[in-house]
Amino acid sequence: MAIPTIHVGCTHFAHGRLQAQVNSHGFEPVACVDINLEGAKRGVESINGAPEGLSERIYTTITEAKEKHAEAQACLIYASTTVHAELIVESLNLGMHTLCVKPIATTQAEFHDIIQAHKANPGTILVQGQNKRWNPAAAKMREWLREDGGIGEMLGGECRFWIRQNLFTGPDSRQPDAYVDGLYFHAGCSHQLDQLVGAKGLPKYVTAQVHNRRDPALGQIDAWGTAGGNALMEYDNGAPFTYAGTRAGHMGAYGWSGSWTFHGEEGDLRRDGGHLQLFRTGQNIEDLTLQDLHGGLIEDDRLQFDAFAEAIATGKDREWIQDSTLGTWILMEACNESARTHERVDVKVFAKKMLA
Ligand SMILES: NC(=O)c1ccc[n+]([C@@H]2O[C@H](COP(=O)([O-])OP(=O)(O)OC[C@H]3O[C@@H](n4cnc5c(N)ncnc54)[C@H](O)[C@@H]3O)[C@@H](O)[C@H]2O)c1
Repeated sequence: MAIPTIHVGCTHFAHGRLQAQVNSHGFEPVACVDINLEGAKRGVESINGAPEGLSERIYTTITEAKEKHAEAQACLIYASTTVHAELIVESLNLGMHTLCVKPIATTQAEFHDIIQAHKANPGTILVQGQNKRWNPAAAKMREWLREDGGIGEMLGGECRFWIRQNLFTGPDSRQPDAYVDGLYFHAGCSHQLDQLVGAKGLPKYVTAQVHNRRDPALGQIDAWGTAGGNALMEYDNGAPFTYAGTRAGHMGAYGWSGSWTFHGEEGDLRRDGGHLQLFRTGQNIEDLTLQDLHGGLIEDDRLQFDAFAEAIATGKDREWIQDSTLGTWILMEACNESARTHERVDVKVFAKKMLA
């Protein structure tokens, strides 16, 4: 039986996530939340296959939605970035399993508030939504990195990311990434490095810098750390992993998934978007082209939501889905910490402090 949910955010990008939830097998939205009731009603009415009467069950707060629909067990949050932390705390304190799209927090203080609320509600699963680890190409890369038949122990690797993203959403409005500091790592980069954390866990150390580029045509005017960044990660076995990314680039060949190489004891892996190759002793032993991101990311989020629903219903991959996605937030913040202080950050010590 599908798990009853409350869906937060019904217009713009959030609207497609409601469609993904309706398309999922594991979830059934029983109520929606949005501060823009009129826009939300139009949004819910245009969802294909929405549960009957859902457009009459839209509220302005999660608390009111839960009061009216006590059966809701999970809450999926797709509101604007700057309200994520307070909405997550509200949802956890109502006893609901909670998934909120990245970044769940924009500061360390917000992250602490979330962790305190999660500790106060230990039966709940808390997930930072990251839709780019779920498509078949990303899943195959993870398999070759983690399982027998792939590269074996990782000895080193790299990821390159190059897009051009306009942070203007209208003549007078911009994405929060344009005015909230540090959102290159938490928003642009997290889409790639979440896949690394999902496969290999957290590195032992990270050293990072942000790009100082300001491109007013893209809305990059005030914020620190929004255009791009570089990072050097060091894993427990000494394996280095390097990252270089920009969203102030020009033509992008591989889009949001990035271009990757990994070197392992038993083989080497190369991935450009949906194209994956596995090499062993100089031979290309597998060459695959798999589905990368779907247009609109609705199928990507459908896959994510079904995995979250399964973690709630059966416990499958519960720790992995929670710990590795929170781990991505911690690693991205460790990159910001390193870029601010010009120091190498001990990620395990930093994670302990963030989760205290
Ligand atoms: N993972 C990805 O691939 C990806 C892509 C695009 C956007 N995003 C993220 O998804 C989130 C939503 O993006 P968007 O463009 O739809 O944002 P948005 O600012 O348009 O907000 C979405 C909806 O949330 C509502 N809302 C705002 N504050 C609220 C509150 N306090 N309570 C309830 N509802 C509230 C708004 O009225 C709006 O209808 C953002 O955090 C964005 O960064 C993720």
